Amino acid sequence: MKIEVNQTQLSNELETLADFSDTPKPSVTRIVYSEADRKARAWFKQLCRGADLEVREDAAGNTFARLSGTDPSLGAIATGSHIDALPHAGRYDGTVGVLGGLEAIRALQRGGFRGRRGVEVVMFTSEEPTRFGIGCLGSRLLSGSLSASAGDSLRDSEGRTLNQVRSDAGFGGALDTVQLKPGHYAGFVELHIEQGPLLEKRGVPLGVVTAIAAPASLRITVDGEGGHAGAVLMQNRHDAFSAACEIALAIESAARSTGSIDSVGTTGICEVFPGAVNSIPSRVTLAVDVRDIDGTRRDGMLDQLTRAMAEIAARRGVRVTSEMINCDAPAACDAHVVKALETSCEKHGFSFDRMVSRAYHDSLFMSRLAPTAMVFIPCRGGVSHRPDEYASPEAIAQGTLVLAETLAHLAA
Ligand code: HGY
Ligand code: MN
Ligand code: MN
Repeated sequence: MKIEVNQTQLSNELETLADFSDTPKPSVTRIVYSEADRKARAWFKQLCRGADLEVREDAAGNTFARLSGTDPSLGAIATGSHIDALPHAGRYDGTVGVLGGLEAIRALQRGGFRGRRGVEVVMFTSEEPTRFGIGCLGSRLLSGSLSASAGDSLRDSEGRTLNQVRSDAGFGGALDTVQLKPGHYAGFVELHIEQGPLLEKRGVPLGVVTAIAAPASLRITVDGEGGHAGAVLMQNRHDAFSAACEIALAIESAARSTGSIDSVGTTGICEVFPGAVNSIPSRVTLAVDVRDIDGTRRDGMLDQLTRAMAEIAARRGVRVTSEMINCDAPAACDAHVVKALETSCEKHGFSFDRMVSRAYHDSLFMSRLAPTAMVFIPCRGGVSHRPDEYASPEAIAQGTLVLAETLAHLAA
């Protein structure tokens, strides 16, 4: 069977999808359940129906489009990713895996493929943590890594629960219907941009992912003493923002001190209260992201941070509390799915590197449901989560071709 990817159609669809955004081009902002997200979802479902796929949505808004197999009793092979985009992001993070997944299935259809197993593309809800503070919300619920009750009580920055927001967006079903049974899928493969510089630097067109980093995120609250910026003497201050700055630096030094390049720590959000230039900050909240490919090393960083926070709190006379939002184990990709990806690359004479993923993806949780692996394509300068994120049409088409070959191999 000759598989051919329609590069032009795929590129056009990626450009169209990028127009569903709450910020002007070239940036993309598409927060889960926002109007832009809802319009993008409707457009994507229309594309899938146009390809004669069976489309369904679950109570979280995870969307599934299936090319059925000859034996419905067998678990399907799935691919997919996300279309939600954090504020002022790019147009390729996640979308390459959703539209590339759809195009891979259309290419199989055009080649006359019909496997014993169904082949399905999944558009996962809310991979980004932007709205509800936790990443991979849809795939956590699908894999049972997050319970329906914990999920529904998550709140956005306006205090609205997931239950309220998803119901208003038209997803009103019971969230406990989302979790899939083991065996529902016999394999999962995600196509994604690398979001790092290695493939481009090495001049290698494809990455076969063997492991996915272990993410942890925390919300840290520092309570100090507010007061008049002019009247309170420095020796009498318990400035919450100065203490928070020391904590942010402690996060950075915890990541730098492990001796491994795989250890990373970021303070991505800092909210200062009351937020007036002449009022000493009384409360600061930080949103912190700590990761490593090695779970034990990641936990060591968290322990070091806990000690640092206690020391800073005692020395500065402030109260520091921290809430762990998520602390996930890393994922090892499945050797059989990795081999299938490598065989697909070799079949077309494409060179590839085995690599780890420092970004997390829905695959991190799908690996708890089915044998899983990922295929990466280069992105310019390794840039991602920025409007200048870029992957070439040729690279996207090449990754889609490898994906299609792999899906066919696993579904046959
Ligand atoms: O943060 C991540 O690793 C993913 O891109 N959401
Ligand atoms: Mn992302
Ligand atoms: Mn992504």
